[in-house]
This record gives sequence, structure tokens and C-alpha cells, in this order.
Amino acid sequence: MTTLHDESAPSSCSHHGGNDHSAHASCGHHNCNQERPLKEVKQIIAVASGKGGVGKSTFAVNLALTLAKTGAKVGLIDADLYGPSIPTMFGLLDAKPEVEGKNLVPLEKWGVKLMSIGFLIESDTAVIWRGPMVSSAVKQFINEVEWKELDYLIFDLPPGTGDIQITIAQTIPLTGAIIVTTPQDVAIADVSKAVSMFRKVNVPILGVVENMSYYELPDGTKDYIFGHHGGEIFARTQGLAFLGSIPIDRAVREGGDSGTPCIVSHPDSATSKAINQAGMEVVRRISIMEAERGVEL
Ligand SMILES: Nc1ncnc2c1ncn2[C@@H]1O[C@H](COP(=O)(O)OP(=O)(O)OP(=O)(O)O)[C@@H](O)[C@H]1O
Ligand SMILES: [Mg+2]
Repeated sequence: MTTLHDESAPSSCSHHGGNDHSAHASCGHHNCNQERPLKEVKQIIAVASGKGGVGKSTFAVNLALTLAKTGAKVGLIDADLYGPSIPTMFGLLDAKPEVEGKNLVPLEKWGVKLMSIGFLIESDTAVIWRGPMVSSAVKQFINEVEWKELDYLIFDLPPGTGDIQITIAQTIPLTGAIIVTTPQDVAIADVSKAVSMFRKVNVPILGVVENMSYYELPDGTKDYIFGHHGGEIFARTQGLAFLGSIPIDRAVREGGDSGTPCIVSHPDSATSKAINQAGMEVVRRISIMEAERGVEL
């Protein structure tokens, strides 16, 4: 296979904690003369949560699509090596990326460039990775894929705070992380761990998205199945921005399973509007961060 060899040599500068964009622009730091990874990518966003099944992939996919609709150049990396979702959610289960020289060419659909381990292995193959292999696979997605120029590159992270998350948080100059949670207490407890991981490695947290916030009944009343505003309260107590609430919607689940995400299949639904609003809030917060740092957009 041309891909995913086990390499333990670090492929990027880690002298800045991996998150200082400007310091990485071309890393001339003491002995380190490597350029920062993904230097043609303006904003790099991780979609994360300590908890599984809260809708990280769903939000990452629909966020990528909503940003692409604004005319932005967008890429999406499925960093869930053990349980990739992007091929299913984009309806690309049998697609294989082309190889250009020694690099992979990302697949592209609905204006979003895509890379996933699911494009490289058979879909029913279990992947058994050791820690260093995980890190090297992630690094390969960064350094050996022809992303070219992008306005946004979004990482859909796996649940938890393990090797993959830490490798990404430390080796990639992330603009920031978006934390996805559902409202109930058991989710919030795990999500706090992800927040503290990003804080430890100095990755800014762009805000919290509450998914599966409520279900709208036919008479228009809202049933708060998983509790009331847990994500919003969590954001407030952590001093984080709240990016919005996304309702439970059959079209979201069906869209994920059928390979046509709701932003494409139901662009005018309340759910798609909520996702779009959260996406615009992310864009707004990034501009504020850049303005505060004096970076020209
Ligand atoms: N707002 C929603 N309404 C209805 N179904 C949803 C919603 N958000 C997510 N889902 C469904 O919930 C399931 C889990 O979502 P998803 O795979 O995005 O979660 P995840 O956090 O990425 O999971 P994992 O931790 O396994 O990566 C999927 O079937 C998805 O379609
Ligand atoms: Mg996922």
C-alpha cells in the first residue's frame, strides 16, 4: 500500500505547542527549519467531544457543507481511524483517492475535499493500530495529501482524549476546537475532559454546540428529551462561547445514513438553519480572534 507506513519521525515543528499559527508560518525557530504543516490552509478547526455518539461527525460534515456553500474552499479530514464515518455520510463507500506522485488526492463532493481511512481500507476491515501508527497515519493525512489552498480544514475527531486527539492538538496549528455535546449530565462529564485537554495544550476553544437539544412535536411544542439546556449551561460555567442548539431531527439521521447530509437534502429545515447559524458563529469568532491577534484575513 502506498499509504500509512509506520513512521515515528516527527513531521512538524512542535516547538510552539503546535497551536501558534503565526509562529508556525515558517518555522525559523532555533534548530527547527521545517515549515509548518498545512501552510496553504487558513483556518484549521477540530470538531471534538470527550463523548461518543453525540453528533461530532454529523456536525463536522454539515459544518463543512455550510461553509462550502458560502464559497469558501473547505476540506474535511475523518480523523476517526477506528470508526470512520465520512465515507458513509458522504455516500462514498466505494470511492478510492487517486495517487499523485507520492501524495494522495482528496476526494471531492458538494465542494468539500475529503480524506478518510475509510477510503483506503475495506469498509468491513477492523483496524488494529498501535499508538505510533495512529500518530503516523494522522500525520500522513496532513503532510501527504494534496489539500492545496483551503480556507477551512475541519478535523472530525474520534471520541475520547487519546492518541489521535493529542497528536492533532500537538502537531497541528489548530485555529481552534469546537466542542459538541448533548444536553444530559453523563455527556457533559466526558466533554469536560476534552475541554481540559485542549486547554492543557493551549488550543483555543471556539465554542460549544449542543446537539440533540430537543424534539419538536407536531403541535410545535419542544420535548427536551435529554434535559434542558445542558450544553448552554456547560458553556457558561466553563467560560466558553455557546454556538447554538441543534434539534433532534429524523432528516439528520436519515441524511447521515443515506449519504446525503441534511444541509444538502433539507437546506431550509430548522435543523439546517441551526447548523448554518452555528457555522456562521464559528466564522465570526475566528475573525474576532484573528483581529485580536492583528492577523490580516
Ligand atoms: N440532531 C440529530 N438528530 C437526529 N439524529 C442525529 C442528530 N445528530 C446526530 N444524529 C445521529 O446520531 C448518530 C451519531 O451521530 P454521529 O456519528 O455524528 O456522532 P459522533 O459523535 O461522531 O459519534 P462517534 O463518537 O462514534 O464518532 C448518527 O446516526 C447520526 O445520524
Ligand atoms: Mg464520529
